[in-house]
Amino acid sequence: MKRREFTNLLGLGLLASSLPIAIAACQSESASDTEGGGSSEFTTLGSLADLVAQGSVTGAVRGKDLVVVRDSSLPDAVLAVSPICTHAGCTVDWNRADELFVCPCHGGRFNPDGTVNAGPPPKPLTTFEAKIEGDQIMVRV
Ligand code: FES
Repeated sequence: MKRREFTNLLGLGLLASSLPIAIAACQSESASDTEGGGSSEFTTLGSLADLVAQGSVTGAVRGKDLVVVRDSSLPDAVLAVSPICTHAGCTVDWNRADELFVCPCHGGRFNPDGTVNAGPPPKPLTTFEAKIEGDQIMVRV
């Protein structure tokens, strides 16, 4: 066997032996996106009593920081957003009196649903599904 034939066979063998591992990795990644424990379930972030008392509820779910506020246009609805400003990554604060998220870095302002109200942010805050269930604030991340 010539050296070139041996090299080609060796390369083909390595490719064939790594293919099942690559396929298995892809399958387990797509399964975690759709099965229980993944992004399809709601998780408790806080209580409705805390939301009423404080005007917002903050916390983290699956490594993502979240802020939940009431939707003033729908009294029984809540809105969940990421507090990370889309301009340069500062953390926005909820201004209860003005019903706006305000960025302390460059004055960006966001509406309760995360859309840009004013300032330099180029796009809305990331939003998540949220609901009230009994006395619990539930979010899906
Ligand atoms: Fe928020 Fe610049 S980082 S406005």
